[in-house]
Amino acid sequence: MQSTSSVPAHLAIILDGNGRWAEQRGRPRWMGHVAGARALKPIVEHCVTRGVDQLTVYAMSSDNWSRPAVEVNALLELLETQCRTRLHSLVTNGVRVSAIGRRDRLPLPMRRALSDLERASAAGRALHLRLAIDYSSRASMQGALPITSATQGTTILPPVDLLLRTGGERRLSDFLLWECAYAELAFIDTLWPDFSPAALDSVLADFATRDRRFGAVSATRRAS
Ligand code: FPP
Repeated sequence: MQSTSSVPAHLAIILDGNGRWAEQRGRPRWMGHVAGARALKPIVEHCVTRGVDQLTVYAMSSDNWSRPAVEVNALLELLETQCRTRLHSLVTNGVRVSAIGRRDRLPLPMRRALSDLERASAAGRALHLRLAIDYSSRASMQGALPITSATQGTTILPPVDLLLRTGGERRLSDFLLWECAYAELAFIDTLWPDFSPAALDSVLADFATRDRRFGAVSATRRAS
């Protein structure tokens, strides 16, 4: 059931711009991911404050495996340490965490860290944070076809109300294609590590002005 609230029940974010953020500072790209992970914490907390029910973030796409090994390994290590070090504060804040995407290609310690976090946070009701890791929307949809062998399984999430992409690109990049059927789209130029709760408030304020019709006509026009 799609939400008609002025706050998105389900916010999805493509965290883009980490690499450029690091390059602009003459640092290796993986340091941009470290800064990006740091930027995510206040955004998660702000989503709780603003009453967002579900936050799904694109932490690693299946296409990211084609990046240089040093960047991929750093990203995987970062995701694992984030799962371990943030566990306590996420659980304390009532955030339930789960992951979507393929697990079979992830290093074993990371799979363990993910399932420990999922288990420990399962009772959280303040926010459901979903980490899309080794995720491909097309692979997920292919899993539903009887003639294909499913590597990722088929995960259909609740519909996305607002899809936000930072970093200036205006595309979906194989993220939640099915779930975004009626999503409002917000593309902003800020690189992810510079994204702040105040910037999120601007995006949410703009979302609240959108006339979401879901293919019907708006209430004000219905009478005429
Ligand atoms: C895209 O930026 C970002 C990623 C591929 C990784 C995002 C992951 C994090 C921010 C870590 C999050 C941590 C947790 C626990 C979820 P890019 O590298 O494509 O940037 P560019 O477009 O500037 O090259």
